[in-house]
Amino acid sequence: MANRKIFLLPGDGIGPAIMAEVEKLINWMNENLSTGFETDSGLVGGSAYDAHGVAISDEDMEKAVASDAVLFGAVGGPKWDDVAYEARPEAGLLRLRKDMELFANLRPAICYPALANSSSLRKEVVDGLDILIVRELTGGVYFGEPKEIIDLGNGQQRAIDTQVYDTYEIERISGVAFEMARTRSNRVTSMEKRNVMKPGVLWNQVVTKYHKENYPDVELDHMLADAGGMQLVRWPKQFDVIVTDNLFGDMLSDVAAMLTGSLGMLPSASLGAPDPITKKRKALYEPVHGSAPDIAGQGIANPIAMIASFAMCMRYSFEMTEEADNLEKAIANVLDTGKRTGDIMSEGCTQITTEEMGAAIIAEMAALSA
Ligand code: IPM
Ligand code: MG
Repeated sequence: MANRKIFLLPGDGIGPAIMAEVEKLINWMNENLSTGFETDSGLVGGSAYDAHGVAISDEDMEKAVASDAVLFGAVGGPKWDDVAYEARPEAGLLRLRKDMELFANLRPAICYPALANSSSLRKEVVDGLDILIVRELTGGVYFGEPKEIIDLGNGQQRAIDTQVYDTYEIERISGVAFEMARTRSNRVTSMEKRNVMKPGVLWNQVVTKYHKENYPDVELDHMLADAGGMQLVRWPKQFDVIVTDNLFGDMLSDVAAMLTGSLGMLPSASLGAPDPITKKRKALYEPVHGSAPDIAGQGIANPIAMIASFAMCMRYSFEMTEEADNLEKAIANVLDTGKRTGDIMSEGCTQITTEEMGAAIIAEMAALSA
């Protein structure tokens, strides 16, 4: 079995605790399914800052780039609130995305049947929900220049961010959305603000043209991003794949995540372009939720989004479809038995710890792999 190199960046807050559960799963798979995963780990975010004074060291960046896949936990916390902007914990994640050119962020929002009652929306609105947000991840206002605060000299300051998109960036992210749609219900909704923003005007034109020339078999419609947010909470099942820019994707994916009952449930994959020779994509997998410093160290964090991110890793980086299917099924089965971490706890269920949830998923994985 060829070795599969995975670089682990647990990060801060609950990151290390949820990553520990994935490590146990990886060890179990290596021992029992001869999966040949080879892991190494590094520091990112506040923990990297404490050790090296930066949000990720050059050495760890090199290891990330050289790996087949990166698993990322979460970064940030009040401890680092006063750190210089360039070294703040989030800068580590943004550098990974930018330097690895991970332009395509896939954020599936799936409502597990057992959790349909945990959503803040009525059960019939979310039951069976299965949508995919495709967020552009290396462009737009997150990275556009100028990006600065300048002194106007009259006691006033001016803050500037730049929302900028080139044709090729819009084409490649919509290409990913159309390809994904073909493997699902074949529908894409593109969201921007063409009524206010020039990048929105271009986004709309490029997606429309690229669709017509390359993916006429896929159904495409357009929605203004604010109306899209409203439709997401009104009747989310109208969507299949949503393609949108970096900032709108950040917001809309948090909205979509909460439809499923808890932010603690949602995995994501960030992918680069396929290498022209090896066809392999650089990739990073991370839960959509943050580092939850308020509950860190208590053993109660929900490891499911992290574990489901590893399922995406097997699916997209290692073409281990069967194992990925089994792991997703294992998560659903454990939820069906009524086991819950605190964030998804509801009446009649049994509340368990982070470690117990990890162990229950491995046990179910063992049963499914037998
Ligand atoms: C996310 C997060 C990040 C983002 C932060 C941590 C920089 O909110 O991945 O959605 O804004 O992209
Ligand atoms: Mg976010």
